[in-house]
Amino acid sequence: MRLAAVFLTTVLAAQEKPPEKITLPTAEADLARGKALYLGSCTYCHGPTGDGGKGANLARPELARAKTDGDLVRIIETGIPGTEMPGAWHMVRRELLQTAAFVRTLGKVEVTPVPGDAARGKALYDKHGCATCHTVKQGNAFAGGLMGPDLSAIGLRRSAAHLRESLVNPGASLPEDFVNTVVILKSGKTVSGRRLGEDTFSVLLRDAAGNNHVFSRSGVREVKRIRGESPMPSYQDKLSASELDDLICHLASLKEAQ
Ligand code: HEC
Ligand code: HEC
Repeated sequence: MRLAAVFLTTVLAAQEKPPEKITLPTAEADLARGKALYLGSCTYCHGPTGDGGKGANLARPELARAKTDGDLVRIIETGIPGTEMPGAWHMVRRELLQTAAFVRTLGKVEVTPVPGDAARGKALYDKHGCATCHTVKQGNAFAGGLMGPDLSAIGLRRSAAHLRESLVNPGASLPEDFVNTVVILKSGKTVSGRRLGEDTFSVLLRDAAGNNHVFSRSGVREVKRIRGESPMPSYQDKLSASELDDLICHLASLKEAQ
């Protein structure tokens, strides 16, 4: 409950800000400072040229969630609640504007389309049973399993390179909130699954069947995180090179923001 309350407060706080009209700096010195700030705080997820990795691809002429400069500055400042995109609370106003100005320069590139055929990729998605573990939004309905992350907007969230890695070597780049966790209770019972949240009083876990468990800290002996291991099978040997391209092309086309 505490976790839900904290999450809700963050969402409400983010929505309360009125839209703002903003002019980004264009001077060379500001862009150079923006670049240094970007390299320090953002490359870990977005890559030095913005073409993604764990983070969204920023090397595009238009950013889905940051269409206006005002949106861009706000996203950098407060992050995107409920995702891995953190807020740069450590930056002062001027630094936020400089970073945003540099991010806009990353978008001045020619976009290389993801090779492959999205329709064939969709058929492969169905054929290989991805939906047993993943949900994709279809119109107003969500269809699919709950064990893996929701893929409705995976094309916005992740670069093609990250998608490829997820399929070929799932353990290599686990999403932060997807670390396999084992809770060992004082009674000796163990439950494993995906960690949904943790605070001073409780641990929240979702098991492979999609059931949520809340454990009170007082009953927990140990919480173990198993990094580098994914419950998702590798598709390296199950898909040919061109099938892999098709599937990545399909995933890259999923952009249903919620
Ligand atoms: C811990 C990883 C991480 C870090 C660090 C990070 N980001 Fe992100 N960022 C993400 C992820 C993941 C998303 C996609 C969120 C979503 O839409 O689900 C994202 C989304 C964005 C978006 C929205 C993109 C769009 O398509 O509209 C912008 C802009 C952005 N980040 C800029 C930045 C900047 C600038 C920094 C550094 C100050 C930064 N990010 C640091 C992970 C990160
Ligand atoms: C047995 C359940 C299971 C099946 C089947 C499965 N996945 Fe996954 N998938 C997961 C889990 C759990 C994760 C999160 C951990 C990870 O990244 O490996 C994940 C992660 C992913 C990610 C990365 C998500 C992110 O935010 O980085 C993508 C993309 C993905 N799966 C696509 C697929 C596709 C496409 C298929 C079918 C070819 C598939 N999965 C089949 C369980 C599954």
